Amino acid sequence: MAEKLIDPWGSGLLEDYEKIVKDFGLEAFNPKMFPEPNRLMRRGVVFAGRDLARVADAIKGRKKFYALTGIMPSAEKIHFGTKMVIENMAYFQKHGAKTVVAIADLESAAVRGVSLAEARKRALEFQIPAYIALGLDPKKTLFYFQSENREVTRVAFEAAQKITFNEFRSTYGSPEPSRIMSALTQIGDILYPQHEERMAGIVPVGIDQEPHIRLSRDFVTRTQSTLKFTQVSSIYHKYTPSLDGGLKMSKSKPESCIELPEDAKTACAKIKHALTGGRDTLEEHRRLGAVIEKDMVFELLKQHLVEDDRELQEIYEEYKGGRMTSGELKQIACEKITVFMNGLQEGIDDARSLVKSKELNFIS
Ligand code: TRP
Repeated sequence: MAEKLIDPWGSGLLEDYEKIVKDFGLEAFNPKMFPEPNRLMRRGVVFAGRDLARVADAIKGRKKFYALTGIMPSAEKIHFGTKMVIENMAYFQKHGAKTVVAIADLESAAVRGVSLAEARKRALEFQIPAYIALGLDPKKTLFYFQSENREVTRVAFEAAQKITFNEFRSTYGSPEPSRIMSALTQIGDILYPQHEERMAGIVPVGIDQEPHIRLSRDFVTRTQSTLKFTQVSSIYHKYTPSLDGGLKMSKSKPESCIELPEDAKTACAKIKHALTGGRDTLEEHRRLGAVIEKDMVFELLKQHLVEDDRELQEIYEEYKGGRMTSGELKQIACEKITVFMNGLQEGIDDARSLVKSKELNFIS
């Protein structure tokens, strides 16, 4: 059962996104609901959501709404999943969302053993600059540290009264106290932007964060009589598959996992060894064409490296028609990822100076 596979702190695999939509009662994502859908929305990488109409209406009616995400400042790298969260945050920011980023220093202390001081340092030196480099407008984004936000703690305590131990257990398997604290704090994060005023809000996440969304929404339902919170919406993106064909890139298989940022040469070497849909011999490839559905390099181009739909379509047709080889496809991906990685590193360096000059909006 798919439910068992969802562990926000684990590395469970999901095989079938349609099944997930059904099992969790999610809405299938329809890009027509949203103005100027981004690359991920247009291409089915964003595949589901909850209460999407509320946010679509807020955008169309120019009503107040927010987009929120949280960062764990533990690793020194981020991955493509985080990039997708940021791109979706940037989409909603561009369409009028009040944009809030929670730095989950309490969570990384609780579940990863990173001290608050270390978490702060990492967030300022790496995560926040990376989020800006990947598209968030630093002037329009509000950042805060969980450990400094009393409103978040207050809501977390309120949620603690409304959620039972059995619910935690059925949501998370075997909940350790550190996880319970983190999950409650995350509910505090998700609802924080409503502390002065109720409004619609959207949390873009990978499907592994769905338990947190569900719990937050259950909490809102249980406090409905107080009229404190508007129900919160979410959207979900698929994983970026591992270059060897696994469902999700993972650091446990470094040769098939591209990290952000990463030296372009290293990334190209990984792409070179990726699983493709190319045929065994050139003759066969020319005759039958590539099996695109099995091709991890094409998936990388589709999800991350080719912005223009027409360009992607052309690559698709050439490759599927056998006129382009998988070697040539890899060459394209390598060129694109080189440009991307160089730009990303530059963007992070620039944003780091911005963070140092304190031109950011921190709230505490
Ligand atoms: N738990 C998230 C993670 O593992 C981080 C996080 C904290 C978060 N608060 C959040 C994510 C609020 C989304 C919304 O990375």
